[in-house]
Amino acid sequence: MRRPLVAGNWKMNGSRSQATALIDGILQGISEENSIEVVICPPFVLIPLAAECLAVGNGLILGAQNLSSQSAGAYTGEVSATMLTDYGCKYAIVGHSERRALYGENDAVVAQKFGVAIENNLTPILCVGETLAQREADETEKTVNDQLDAVLQQHGIEAMVKTVVAYEPVWAIGTGRTATPQQAQAVHHFIRNKLAVGDKNVAANIRLLYGGSVKASNAADLFNESDIDGGLIGGASLDANEFIEICRAAVH
Ligand code: 13P
Repeated sequence: MRRPLVAGNWKMNGSRSQATALIDGILQGISEENSIEVVICPPFVLIPLAAECLAVGNGLILGAQNLSSQSAGAYTGEVSATMLTDYGCKYAIVGHSERRALYGENDAVVAQKFGVAIENNLTPILCVGETLAQREADETEKTVNDQLDAVLQQHGIEAMVKTVVAYEPVWAIGTGRTATPQQAQAVHHFIRNKLAVGDKNVAANIRLLYGGSVKASNAADLFNESDIDGGLIGGASLDANEFIEICRAAVH
């Protein structure tokens, strides 16, 4: 039985006061007994503040949006895995399409970051997904397959035991254009089947999230699909009520 997971990716949004209000709002709507896992991924500089807000123990889990591919040393501007775990981060988003497209993170870098996360006990939320051009050229499965292979070839199927994969079609991110539940399910099913070739148990237990314009109004239909185990939420995670509704939609 896979435990549903909903993660909020705040991206580059929020001030100290907005973050405090948002976390307070979310905490009012979720409780520790929740049968799902709820993760927030604030920008790096807000992680200490978020860690303080969550210190009392309340069922919200902290994650990061990115991490360095290096462990420590002369890497100006980078943030290491151990700095994140020091603040209690349990998850790290790896290979988000914005990092791939805007910051030149290729498959090799993504695989390196994935490895550093695993080594440091941070669960990677590995993002994969096709662009609109790739979908229209009927290359969705090939794209997702290659992105997964880049990590599997380096780290093996065993590393997937402690991994979450997020399918985020690039054309659905921040566009208001969500994949239909059927479109999302088809790709999730493809991912699970691919992983099953390596290890059936790993494939059966890994959580696969959908991301891309998830809102309170469409979350339940997406999360009802058999291979969709929750969501990676961008814009809608900045509104406490909307995010809480999305979390509730993941409870089965
Ligand atoms: P939106 O929910 O804003 O489309 O963003 C999705 C996303 O990129 C989450 O990582």
